[in-house]
Amino acid sequence: MISKKVHQAMNEQIRHELESYYIYLSMVAYFHARNLDGMAHWMRCQAHEEMIHAMKFMDHILDRGGAVKLQDLKQIKTAWQSVEEVWQDTLAHEQFITGKIHGIVKTARAEGDYASDTLLNWFTKEQLEEEATAEKIVRQIEMIGHTKEGLFMLDKELGARIFPAGSPLDPAAYNLAT
Ligand code: FEO
Repeated sequence: MISKKVHQAMNEQIRHELESYYIYLSMVAYFHARNLDGMAHWMRCQAHEEMIHAMKFMDHILDRGGAVKLQDLKQIKTAWQSVEEVWQDTLAHEQFITGKIHGIVKTARAEGDYASDTLLNWFTKEQLEEEATAEKIVRQIEMIGHTKEGLFMLDKELGARIFPAGSPLDPAAYNLAT
């Protein structure tokens, strides 16, 4: 049986992951509206990963005999002043999520919850990668400044991100791309 404190923290983390999903979908809409289809595609892939993260916590709670209590999502941001601001928000959000994951790791260790270790190790590594990727994109945006050519090239590069197979967020999955 999962400890009460870890259970509560993971239930809250499901909300954070679903809010991440929602935030990145909001960014998908922002980028598409500005014809930055590569960045929109990158964010769709990211949103997909956030949904997977929520499901990983959900399955872990269920496997341990706990109840999943889905919580209300907060109103998320729907407008940005610039492309740079979107990416800065992405980095700040991933840093926030890393803090939350580390908090669960501390709770699990204090509670002697070794069954959560494998899952939490996966998330710790995942956050390291996600923060590093977001940080790199923020630095690249700073490098290209506000040049249209630079933005165009970065948009192309980010559009090459591979969609997880069978993602429901992939337009190809519901035939919009053909
Ligand atoms: Fe689920 Fe991007 O953290």
